[in-house]
Amino acid sequence: MNTVVQLANSLEEHWMPFTANRHFKANPRIISGAQGMYYTTDRGEQILDASSGLFCVAAGHGRREIAEAVNKALLEIDYVPPFQFGHPASFALARRLSALAPGDINHVFFVNSGSESVDSALKIALAYHRARGEGQRMRLVGREKSYHGVNFGGISVAGMVNNKKAFGLGLPGVCHLRHTMLPEHKFVEGQPETGAELAEDLQRLVDLHGAESIAACIVEPIAGSIGCLVPPKGYLQRLREICDQNHILLIFDEVICGFGRTGKAFGADSFGVVPDMITMAKALTNGVVPMGAVACSEKIYDTITQAVPESAVELFHGYTYSGCPVASAASHAALTIYEEEGLFDRAAEMSPRFLEAVFSLEDLPVVTDIRGYGMLAGIDLAPKGAPGERGLAVMQELYAAGLMAKLTGDCALIAPPLVCEDRHISEMAEKLRSVLEAQ
Ligand SMILES: Cc1ncc(COP(=O)(O)O)c(C=O)c1O
Repeated sequence: MNTVVQLANSLEEHWMPFTANRHFKANPRIISGAQGMYYTTDRGEQILDASSGLFCVAAGHGRREIAEAVNKALLEIDYVPPFQFGHPASFALARRLSALAPGDINHVFFVNSGSESVDSALKIALAYHRARGEGQRMRLVGREKSYHGVNFGGISVAGMVNNKKAFGLGLPGVCHLRHTMLPEHKFVEGQPETGAELAEDLQRLVDLHGAESIAACIVEPIAGSIGCLVPPKGYLQRLREICDQNHILLIFDEVICGFGRTGKAFGADSFGVVPDMITMAKALTNGVVPMGAVACSEKIYDTITQAVPESAVELFHGYTYSGCPVASAASHAALTIYEEEGLFDRAAEMSPRFLEAVFSLEDLPVVTDIRGYGMLAGIDLAPKGAPGERGLAVMQELYAAGLMAKLTGDCALIAPPLVCEDRHISEMAEKLRSVLEAQ
């Protein structure tokens, strides 16, 4: 037995994130391998990956091209300080991402996770207004039923109560738009026809607090982790208009939506709205190495960099591993796969079959709602016992049946790798049906 396996015999010391630790350690689910669409458990069972890990493994598991690029990068340059020094791969990656991003979003600030990308974007928004002489714009607007990671900025603007309530009051001056989950949206596939008027909440906040106090509004194009809330038609367009009229920056948190999940490079492309900043992570490296980024518009970069003398640092922000060689190499290799295999188009092509399979579960009594867009869907289950209890039980039963899915509370989030084939979609639907039917 190798040392890692021996050590794994004691599960106690590792405090696992977002996990019921005592429950897990009594019923561990240990993965020992991953290839293509499947995980292998420590008992040798094959588990179909229905959530791309955590929405990150867009190109499937075990991609040699990425492993080899990472290995090569490590042997060439292990580490370069990102403050005042650089290495070629991060500049080339920023250029590549700028070309991929919509509109004039063409400057990229690297970080190490989705949470860091959100907090960085919020800080950049504040710094932008300060640089243009409106430093009083400190108010940040988020939305109910949203997830923006776990750092203090992110939990302040987000709208998931369990992620906030133990951790104090959050940032001062944060306001929330109402969420867009209307009763008439039940079992609607794609964008709901109604609900665009909910964007007027931003106008109400402008009227209430004054535009001159508001720095930015952050939303996920599709609210992912909360259960796949697809934006009503016209909703994001209206947010854009209100932001433009009031000099408020619009930030799209595309940590889940980015890199093909919606059938285009970004949700911004799918919904036809260009924000001022896009946060990204996860599939940026196919989930292989931690990396995130904030892509900003020309005006944001120019305003902040030109506000200080050339020799002065313009933004007092950054991380030891921002754009580090190994993450940059992983991202280049992932983007090359996405391009060469046309994975964003493939996602658009597979989407109707995927959504048909997920919505075929509509008849099951335990299923109370289904939403979906692109290669992302949420299936709400009738609660049983405390909130989340049924979700946890279903997650375990799915795993025992050979399917890994992300459950948030009592909602199953389905988002398979974009390389999935018809047979995987059928297997996924069969396993979901057999487990949900037995509820
Ligand atoms: C929209 C969104 N923002 C931010 C995050 C946080 O990303 P990370 O877990 O990499 O910090 C997530 C994670 O799921 C997310 O879905």
